[in-house]
Amino acid sequence: MALTLNVNGDRRGFTADPVTPLVDVLREQFHLTGVKPVCREGFCGACMVLVDDRPTLSCLMPAALAQDCEVRTVEGLAANGTLNPIQQALEACDAVQCGMCFPGMVVTLTHLMKATPGATRDDVRSALTGNICRCTGYESIVEAAVRALAAT
Ligand code: FES
Ligand code: FES
Repeated sequence: MALTLNVNGDRRGFTADPVTPLVDVLREQFHLTGVKPVCREGFCGACMVLVDDRPTLSCLMPAALAQDCEVRTVEGLAANGTLNPIQQALEACDAVQCGMCFPGMVVTLTHLMKATPGATRDDVRSALTGNICRCTGYESIVEAAVRALAAT
């Protein structure tokens, strides 16, 4: 089936089975390998992207349902090459370990910052409940998010 998706401002047509998970289309057609297919069952959050500004598990969403939507992956969160405040704080706090969970964390926290001005530490922890880090490096990630939120 012919499909067309808008991803990070790039509109592209391709052929795929319409039930192909969005995560696979993003990686294979758009070569956006920041989005990670880890559990493929909706548990880990590593495949998180924004679909029309809503955090969405791309392993559970058929690509055909993303047509006519604006999809944004971690690769599309920096503006003109400048990392957003969450990305800058995560870098400053040296919050990344193996990196497998990280793109999903960044997507979730970027959405929190935009959607919930004045979000608290508890809000950050709550927002991250759907993002599992196997390296268990939550403390530095939460600290970075709190710092970024406090600076806005
Ligand atoms: S790969 Fe989608 S939630 Fe784990
Ligand atoms: S940094 Fe390794 S899974 Fe989170």
